[in-house]
Amino acid sequence: MGSPELKRPDPNENKKDKKKRISGYANFKEGKLFGDWTIKKKIDEGGFGKVYLVGQPSKNLYAALKAEPNEVSGGSAIKLEIQVIRALNRKGETPHIPEVFHAAKHSRFCYMIMTLLGDNFKTLRKKNEKGDGVWATLFVSSWIRLGIQSLYGLKILHDHGYLHRDIKPSNFALGQVTDPERAVMVHLLDFGLARSFAFKTNGKYVLRLARSSVGFKGTFRYCSPNVHDKLESGQRDDIWSLFFVLIEVHCGLPWQKETDKAVIEKVKCNYKDEVVMQNMPRELRPIIPELRKLDCYQRPDYLGIYKAMQAVMTRYTVQPHDLYDWEKKENAPKALRPPKPPAWYAPDAFFGADPLGTSGSRSRTPNSNASSNASSNHGSDEKTSTIADADVFKMTVTEYTQDEKK
Ligand SMILES: Nc1ncnc2c1ncn2[C@@H]1O[C@H](COP(=O)(O)OP(=O)(O)O)[C@@H](O)[C@H]1O
Ligand SMILES: [Mg+2]
Repeated sequence: MGSPELKRPDPNENKKDKKKRISGYANFKEGKLFGDWTIKKKIDEGGFGKVYLVGQPSKNLYAALKAEPNEVSGGSAIKLEIQVIRALNRKGETPHIPEVFHAAKHSRFCYMIMTLLGDNFKTLRKKNEKGDGVWATLFVSSWIRLGIQSLYGLKILHDHGYLHRDIKPSNFALGQVTDPERAVMVHLLDFGLARSFAFKTNGKYVLRLARSSVGFKGTFRYCSPNVHDKLESGQRDDIWSLFFVLIEVHCGLPWQKETDKAVIEKVKCNYKDEVVMQNMPRELRPIIPELRKLDCYQRPDYLGIYKAMQAVMTRYTVQPHDLYDWEKKENAPKALRPPKPPAWYAPDAFFGADPLGTSGSRSRTPNSNASSNASSNHGSDEKTSTIADADVFKMTVTEYTQDEKK
């Protein structure tokens, strides 16, 4: 308390300046205690948040602790993140979603202790780099399986009435290699920019009314062209971003090495979908053109997309438990696999289901909060007014633009 507010970062801040800026907060030394959990080391850091490995060595338990300072102007996104993860796990552990074991607010920072995960898509792709400056990619056998699982995770989020809005390679992670249930499972991470697009009223889900102009949120490289056009995001846009992620790990995006945001936007918004998709397996090429036909209220054809991805697996004779690229290297650890498919795994039924009942529906009830409080969340029948504050705060250095400020 009493500390000066932390200013939002300059959108053009470089890596060195970011490191300097964030070195001062949510900084915990090895050995610091959070209840029964002890800080071991820092794993990673984002715009404000820092992620640490924590443990209870006597019980051989390890987890991740994500912390964000309270002084961020507007507040910390971690509150929203905790609410979303808890909503997703309300009926018990949910596949593709980490668990939050404990969360608390201290005077200077908020934190949550969650399932410890392993490599993310960015680190996995980098394992194939040869240091020759050539854009490294994953083999189809690896990325198509990661893609199907990512779609599974995204649909779970959407089926709870939330959008992610910051789909990018570093926000998908595999479990720990020693965890038989999660080791080869893709997890969706980082719900600090999530937004509810549907809420329950009188036992029925209704879609929130789209705003007429939406300030930029997300990550320039991966957001859909609709986000550049300031249009309200829908399920289509998360999936669109997922396909940008998959193109990146398969063959690279046309704007892959571009760092100038204006150029990224120009290239992305001017390339024809057919060109963006041209190096993808033929089964997947119609997907972005199909997403383009949807408005923000419409539900994408998850089953059709899944079947197209499954067709790629069949044509390339990919087996679910084949070794992944990074496991094939000499001395590389091999992740544990569950002995048989888990009971929840029923992709045809899952991808075909529309639990919100909003399939193809454009009818909507205007949400009285939509314009006055764009961030309020109604993703479940629980009232979650505390989330309202958090949605607008989230930023990472490369993502923030001034027009976000409310
Ligand atoms: N539960 C976790 N286990 C292991 N690593 C994690 C975990 N959560 C996050 N990370 C790592 O920290 C990075 C930043 O975390 P993330 O939740 O994406 O925060 P940010 O909002 O700062 O992007 C992730 O890209 C991932 O590499
Ligand atoms: Mg992240």
